[in-house]
Amino acid sequence: MFEQVKTILDSAIAGGELGPHQRIPSERELSVALGASRMTIRQALVEMMAEGSLYTRSGKGTYVAERKIEQPLQRLTSFTEDIRARGSRPASRVLALALLPAPLELAVALGVRPGTELVRLRRLRLANDDPLAIETSHVAHALCPGLVDVDFSTSSLYETLTTRYGLTLRSAKQTIEASEALPDERQLLDLPRHVPVLRLHRLTFADDGRVVEFVRAVYRGDRYQLQVQLR
Ligand code: GLP
Repeated sequence: MFEQVKTILDSAIAGGELGPHQRIPSERELSVALGASRMTIRQALVEMMAEGSLYTRSGKGTYVAERKIEQPLQRLTSFTEDIRARGSRPASRVLALALLPAPLELAVALGVRPGTELVRLRRLRLANDDPLAIETSHVAHALCPGLVDVDFSTSSLYETLTTRYGLTLRSAKQTIEASEALPDERQLLDLPRHVPVLRLHRLTFADDGRVVEFVRAVYRGDRYQLQVQLR
């Protein structure tokens, strides 16, 4: 029975009768309208929240979530390209942009000596002003002198590395894990309660095999879907 309730609500969302951020009827109203017990309705809603198609705002009701961004993993793309590809406007809030001597862990990842000067760029990534991800990139300063002076609220890191520093980014090795958000991440991402995040690590390589970038990122689990083609 709860599967039927889910199907009805899923089709209303897919058909656009229930749009993103629209409040859905209360459990009581749904129970009357669909002729199902409130327990059945609740079970359907809890599953839909876990799947990311609905979300709650405490004390305010249950709402339809925005359609997830489908990100194919076959190609090496930047956040800017991904967001533009779906017709939205990419931007960033720069949380940190500074030089630092490479601690051991980052030195190993980037293949440089510990203490080598790195640029660290931490950004809240936005699409149409909505926060979607927090990304912290590290690049050896020798590869991109002056990068700390770039205004990354509107510029793309990959475009800058390519056009200004002549680096051709060719491939990346990426790890993706499910995770709980830390309190500061939850706040920056404006993450609804109980929504998990995707934690990504990426090592990006230039065409000559050099490591250019080491990134740690946190993506909203309710806004992202990663797609892979299996052959
Ligand atoms: C993606 C990657 C990051 C990379 C970023 C660059 O989000 N996961 O590793 O740093 O793109 O994005 P942009 O060129 O928009 O700054």
